[in-house]
Amino acid sequence: MKLKRFTPLILIVCLTIINAQTYKNAQADIEERIQDLLSRMTLAEKIGQLQQYSLRKQFSSGKLPDKLAQQIRDGKVGSFLNAGTIADRETIQKIAVNETRLGIPIIFGRDVIHGYRTILPIPLGQAATWNYDLLKKGSAMAAREAAEDGYHWTFAPMIDISRDTRWGRIAESCGEDPYMTSQFAKAMVEGFQGDDLSAPHTIASCAKHYIGYGATEGGRDYNTTLIPERELRDVYLKPFKTAVDAGAATLMSAFNDLNGVPTSGNKFTLKTILRDEWNFDGFVVSDWKSITDMMKHGYTKDGKEAALKAFNAGVNMEMVSKHYQNNLEQLLKEGKVKSEWLDEMVAGILRIKFKLGLFETPYRRYSKSEKTFSDEYKELAKESTIESAVLLKNDNNLLPLSESIKSLAVIGPMSDDPVEQLGTWNKEGRKEETVTPLAALRKLYKNKIKINYAPGLTSTRSTETAHFAKAVEAAKNSDAVVLFLGEDHLLSGETHCRAFINLPGAQEKLIKEIHKTGKPVIVVVLAGRALTFGNIIDKINSLVFFWHPGTMGGPAIADLLFGKVSPSGKLPVTFPRTVGQIPLYYNHKNTGKPPVKNQLGIKLGTPENPVGYASYYLDVDFTPAYYFGYGMSYTTFKYSDLKLSSNSITKTDKLTVSVKVKNTGNYKAKETVQLYIRDLFGSVTRPVKELKGFEKISLKPGETKVVSFTLSEEDLKFWDIDMKYVSESGDFEIFVGSSSRSEDLLKSAFQLK
Ligand code: GLC
Repeated sequence: MKLKRFTPLILIVCLTIINAQTYKNAQADIEERIQDLLSRMTLAEKIGQLQQYSLRKQFSSGKLPDKLAQQIRDGKVGSFLNAGTIADRETIQKIAVNETRLGIPIIFGRDVIHGYRTILPIPLGQAATWNYDLLKKGSAMAAREAAEDGYHWTFAPMIDISRDTRWGRIAESCGEDPYMTSQFAKAMVEGFQGDDLSAPHTIASCAKHYIGYGATEGGRDYNTTLIPERELRDVYLKPFKTAVDAGAATLMSAFNDLNGVPTSGNKFTLKTILRDEWNFDGFVVSDWKSITDMMKHGYTKDGKEAALKAFNAGVNMEMVSKHYQNNLEQLLKEGKVKSEWLDEMVAGILRIKFKLGLFETPYRRYSKSEKTFSDEYKELAKESTIESAVLLKNDNNLLPLSESIKSLAVIGPMSDDPVEQLGTWNKEGRKEETVTPLAALRKLYKNKIKINYAPGLTSTRSTETAHFAKAVEAAKNSDAVVLFLGEDHLLSGETHCRAFINLPGAQEKLIKEIHKTGKPVIVVVLAGRALTFGNIIDKINSLVFFWHPGTMGGPAIADLLFGKVSPSGKLPVTFPRTVGQIPLYYNHKNTGKPPVKNQLGIKLGTPENPVGYASYYLDVDFTPAYYFGYGMSYTTFKYSDLKLSSNSITKTDKLTVSVKVKNTGNYKAKETVQLYIRDLFGSVTRPVKELKGFEKISLKPGETKVVSFTLSEEDLKFWDIDMKYVSESGDFEIFVGSSSRSEDLLKSAFQLK
């Protein structure tokens, strides 16, 4: 009897205990944990989760500044980027977990863009591998190294489409094509996040910069972008949709003004597209003070309006600036921000913290086996670097060099610079761990080949010719010459844009001087963008484009120069003949007056008549210097037998496309087989080519393989005249080959019924 009287009390106590645990109960459904936690949070604690601070340097005293420690204790910080050493981060986490009311862990972010401690080629170089697995493995390696150092989140992949090589940040991108960038966005999200975000060796990804940042006018960073909605959806949004569908945990809003509305306050892109259409349920972090920038854009008159527009548009977390912290409470009081929207924004952040398992393992650090900078990872970096190299010229098959040569001149400012070859966005790569081309060649051939080294220039931008004489001397005393040239890392990357894109400084002069010696000249370029070589291409016998190659640049180029492996890289961006041709990209529209082959100039006295009126230049060939998808090998490949499973398909059919590829040379090598389509007519004009498939294969000399692709209606869709995402019946051409250049492609056709 007595017990019965107490049953309701016991029930309440049990429920309270169970209820008290829900958000801390790892077995509970994440959505329940989120709702339970939200129900417990004060307004100040909710706003606190939206704040990210940066701690760029270690705490000088080894102790967290009191004011900051108190802000964390008061639950006013949800995330840090950078944040010193792992010990510093653990100091912060201890306060967040043990000294705050609810113990919500901090999420630590970092720019892990192309490797963490073992530095990979810059992303543009990785794209040049056209190798999905390499990008995925490289991102998994970077995630593991960052996780071993206590980071939970990277601000990558950067998947801005870029058609303008003047833009410094093309270095961080996968280049100009939406299909390729979409594929690699998926590879990198999978690599960073693995198939279980709570696993301690994975980190949350951040697809950036949302959206259209790469279309910056004049190739000048942070400049205006004007992108019609159809182009926005058909080109720039494509990779982000793929990243979101691949489960990208976060996105980063960008700096640019998109059609008059800055992307960090753009409701159409952040809410209508990202949430309403794509059902994205992670969170968006602003770029560094990009909310503040909206005042400079002239989009908001003060910080309060900036907070209002960014928050209501859908930026969950504010990086470094404090407009949310200073204004959201007032905006809620004024009814300009709804508490339901605040809960939704906080929920997005909590959802990722729960998925990361931070409530269970706030100090998570993958310490089962330190793989950071392991031989395995150095080997992976070397493989990625080797496959990123693009052979653009090789007269008389000068390359590969024979190991029987007696001497080799190694010349140029990028021969032995362990910092510059790591490229932009290197934070943890150590110069003493970088292997330069000179170091690698000396190590490999110290007793076999006499290496005559002369930098010739003290930096890539030096105009000093005082050291040329020694370089010329080295060349004269050698059987062959390799010039390591390019851009130092500060000439590319964020805010580092160039109006001229030839080799900087006196590098072209140096090439001309070396050419005068009559020795065979190989130029290896280490750079962060497509460059122009028009002034000197006739002075060099071989040209290998190597991007900024990362930690293992030296061993990779040494193996390539001496034929241990054949180059297999292909260009992920079009290389113009001159900067005046930009923007120049392969998937362009045909225009109403397309130029004919070799159309150039006009003779004096030509009569005024409509003949030859076309979209070309008088003063330079309108075609690229090197095409998207182009890259040579030490061997040769023959494409034949292009076959289609049918020459007409309905919208529910699949179309199988196959082609034979034969290695007709003397070297084992890899080749990337590329598939392009052309939709000949549409309710809107369509590009002359669109990449819709690629496969990298390895062939021994004489070996033939059949490569097949499958196309479906999905591959033929675009945003039509009514802004519907559809395919349209009609005639299509199909191209398969070794680059986007017509001469390198077999052609066929099919109809979509
Ligand atoms: C920078 C970059 C962004 C980076 C962020 C944090 O300004 O635009 O890509 O992730 O700030 O470093």
